[in-house]
Amino acid sequence: MQIDTMLDQMAQKALADIAASTSVAELENIRIAILGKKGELTAALRSMKDITEEQRPAFGKRVNEKRDQITNALESRLADLKMQDMRQRLVSEAIDITLPGKKTTLGGLHPLTRIYYEIRDIFVSMGFDVMDGPEIEYDKYNFEMLNMPKDHPARDTQDTFYVSDDIVLRTHTSPVQIRTMLNQKPPIRMICPGRVYRSDDVDATHSPVFNQVEGLVVGKGISLAHLKSTLDTFLKEFYGENTKTKFRPGHFPFTEPSAEVDATCAKCGGNGCGVCKGTGMIEVLGCGMVHPNVLRGCGIDPQEYTGFAFGLGMDRLATIKYGITDIRLLFENDIRFLKQFQ
Ligand code: PHE
Repeated sequence: MQIDTMLDQMAQKALADIAASTSVAELENIRIAILGKKGELTAALRSMKDITEEQRPAFGKRVNEKRDQITNALESRLADLKMQDMRQRLVSEAIDITLPGKKTTLGGLHPLTRIYYEIRDIFVSMGFDVMDGPEIEYDKYNFEMLNMPKDHPARDTQDTFYVSDDIVLRTHTSPVQIRTMLNQKPPIRMICPGRVYRSDDVDATHSPVFNQVEGLVVGKGISLAHLKSTLDTFLKEFYGENTKTKFRPGHFPFTEPSAEVDATCAKCGGNGCGVCKGTGMIEVLGCGMVHPNVLRGCGIDPQEYTGFAFGLGMDRLATIKYGITDIRLLFENDIRFLKQFQ
């Protein structure tokens, strides 16, 4: 009888331990202590040899009952503990998907690039091609073939960086027009954007390197009317449809007649302000009908073909459009400045 009581007590304690266990690992230790090879229940089974033969079947049955009871208790406690663990993990590893994500900082386009894309898109929509040319250029293409021989006074107005007697840093993108006319038969309709160089001192409105877009149209019957309507259309597209344009007589050696074009001041809309010095208009580009000498020099017969050309300063257009008061900001790449255009 004593052995039965021991079995009961052991089973009771085991069930109590199981119920009180707080982790899967602890429960496993309890299992080993009771059901393991050297466990208490296993020991109880072994003690069967100490009891009488008649008592054995009944005792064996009781041991089995206890083992089933304990095994069931272990299983259900294990399930509980696992569930508890899961709940804890769900709480501790919870992710708040409503929190704002980490922002990746995106770069933006430089204001000059934006201006260039806008200008390019307008002209491309009018059927213009985009041409490119070298920044280190022959004197011949930069000056001579543009009707500016070596001793021409107009050369003085474009303070030139000379690489050698015959080679310069291009002072405008007009040499690309020469290169195009030498390579291509009319009809020609192109723009050429790019960096140009003049030995100016740096200040709020001058820089020794700046950006131009020039354009050239050569064909049969091209007239001043085409020039005016093309530039008027461009300026209205660029600054807005209420923009007014004014063509004033100008002078360039490579065009005849030549004109300078003013457009309604983008800052004040024509009312007069500091940017336009109270006039309501601002000078935005130079243009003219291609000089017969220039056409002839490129092997194009001026009796058969005529053309117009224009040139604008992109930096100037950018400063006017964005109200930038110092041109140097466009070249210094100060991130605080550039960020405003993203
Ligand atoms: N090349 C001239 C300049 O840089 C601009 C221009 C181009 C004027 C074409 C008339 C025609 O000053």
